[in-house]
Amino acid sequence: MKVGVFDSGIGGLTVVKSLLQHQLFEEIIYYGDTARVPYGIKDKNTIIRYGLETIEFFKNFELDLIIVACNTVSAYALDEMRDISNCPIYGVVKAGAIATSNALKDKNSNILVLGTKATINSKAYNTRLHSLGYDNFQTKATGLFVPLVEEEIFSGEILEATFKHYFKDIKQPDAVILGCTHFPLIAPALQAYFGEDTQLIHSGEAIVEYLESKFTFSKKYENPHIKFFASENPDALKAIAAKWLKI
Ligand code: DGL
Repeated sequence: MKVGVFDSGIGGLTVVKSLLQHQLFEEIIYYGDTARVPYGIKDKNTIIRYGLETIEFFKNFELDLIIVACNTVSAYALDEMRDISNCPIYGVVKAGAIATSNALKDKNSNILVLGTKATINSKAYNTRLHSLGYDNFQTKATGLFVPLVEEEIFSGEILEATFKHYFKDIKQPDAVILGCTHFPLIAPALQAYFGEDTQLIHSGEAIVEYLESKFTFSKKYENPHIKFFASENPDALKAIAAKWLKI
């Protein structure tokens, strides 16, 4: 199968990493809207417009499906994107909520949802978690993690200070939804902060789990063909991909 992966920028590479680790696809077309990132501070109409433009771009390829790696786009634009797409589209919010419910058997478990301002304001995770029977959750917009990750600050004093700033009123969670493409890169620091008993839910692993529950992947692709496209400076995206994905 040939998959298109869409993100607002480089963060969706964390989702590509999961796709590569699980060897699900023969061909991956990645598009990062690096000229217009971040989406997480933009309004609903703008996010939808950018999503629709990406579907037009993906029409140049004969895709079997599209994965929206960006939590912000997944929270706001999937219905509109599906209306104009000629292949199915899967977002990470529904997959992330289902992965959380698979990981937590106790419906009273406390779930902390982290994301961009737009994702948190959309309440998309709240709605999904509620429909799965979970009502004990806290949400926190942690947008500063995005530039920190882009600066490759994955640990250390600045990150610790940011944790203290954001989490001072947060109750100890049983699970943390990493509701933003960038957050898996600071997962080790978050795990150390919340402790080993807290489960971290990663969008990339969640979408793999979701797709595997929907489709039969009878073949593994060890060396898939990946093409990277960006709305600005594709060489920078390719360089980061080479580093993060070790390809
Ligand atoms: N990709 C975005 C997300 O997952 C984070 C970066 C942005 O704000 O565009 O929500």
